[in-house]
Amino acid sequence: MTATARLPIVILISGRGSNLASIIECAASGVLDVDIRAVISNRPAAVGLRLAEGAGIPAGVIDHTGYSGRTAFEHALRERIDACQPELVVLAGFMRLLTAGFVAHYHGRMLNIHPSLLPALPGLDTHRRALEAGLAEHGASVHFVTADMDGGPVLLQGRVPVCDGDTPATLAGRVLEQEHRIYPLAIQWFASGRIFLDENCHIYFDGNRLTRPRDLATEIPLPC
Ligand code: GRF
Repeated sequence: MTATARLPIVILISGRGSNLASIIECAASGVLDVDIRAVISNRPAAVGLRLAEGAGIPAGVIDHTGYSGRTAFEHALRERIDACQPELVVLAGFMRLLTAGFVAHYHGRMLNIHPSLLPALPGLDTHRRALEAGLAEHGASVHFVTADMDGGPVLLQGRVPVCDGDTPATLAGRVLEQEHRIYPLAIQWFASGRIFLDENCHIYFDGNRLTRPRDLATEIPLPC
């Protein structure tokens, strides 16, 4: 694929940016066919902004605290995103709830990564909750974003065992390794036209309806 055929994307972050880093790395190594047009954070202090700048990617802030409400914030965010004309918007640790109207504008072209095996454990603090629930298995999910928070159709998951003596931090570290594999792979599927979301929120993979999420254990991760 030539450089001009790379899928234009915008990445939204709020913090550390380790998923952003994995996407940048895979794109730089040539196995992820994306052109990262911009990284936008709702928090000025997000470490991920420095990562983007270091990689020569335009990085900007739309600080939600500077707007009168969610509608005004989302209006500014949408304008900034759409000015970049992305074909995919990638939420990578973006910690703001998005309204139904905003999400509908990006139907089928907005992905999120969530640190649990959805539909289990939507919301925050998933690693502590996985331990408290005594789960034997945990992981991460890539899903299309819909108005239902962490409830959109899941396309790919990475699983890890929960081990004796795990703390939320050790478990989070194990899950994060999976996140850094599944997100670039899912984005590459989208970039290469293998994955598609229809108007009824059904996912199609290589032209066939996906009835349950793909599992990284049976996929070939990107070599990056
Ligand atoms: C990740 O665990 C992701 O699944 C969740 O927020 C965290 C972001 O981490 N949505 P990072 O900023 O990518 O390091």
